[in-house]
Amino acid sequence: MVKVLFVCLGNICRSPMAEFVFKDMLQKQNLSDICLVASAGTSSEEAGNPVHRGTAAQLSMRNISCAGKRARKIVRSDYSEYDYLVGMERRNLADMLSFFGGDPAHKLFRLLDFSESPRDISDPWYTGDFERTYRDVSEGCKCFLEFLRREKKI
Ligand code: 4NP
Repeated sequence: MVKVLFVCLGNICRSPMAEFVFKDMLQKQNLSDICLVASAGTSSEEAGNPVHRGTAAQLSMRNISCAGKRARKIVRSDYSEYDYLVGMERRNLADMLSFFGGDPAHKLFRLLDFSESPRDISDPWYTGDFERTYRDVSEGCKCFLEFLRREKKI
């Protein structure tokens, strides 16, 4: 079983989008049973809140449900619980490094570092463009899945 935690700041826009897009990809390839996926935020600001309507709309357009998801902040035990803690932007990695007190097991990654054009996921909180965020997330998830396959993790 491979365990993946997608991480952003608030856990209402980018990381839940990655969580549900990645779960959908796994489901379509019959891989759901061997990969556990969740998401969390580095901040407690949005804890308990549902997925942002802009993200929910992008998912719904593709028949992907995020029903029941509530934002949560990362906890210390996430570092031992998950195999891959995948941030959406550079700042998420810096915040995780500080929160977990380092990355001794090399579990911290940035999603689009798995792609051929490494960059941060476009932040819809500032751009208002959830479609662009979807394109970034979808590219990142596809490349991350290919990485896991190459590494023979799934
Ligand atoms: P997320 O988006 O980190 O992708 O969930 C944001 C949510 C809340 C804030 C910023 C980004 N905020 O500043 O409260």
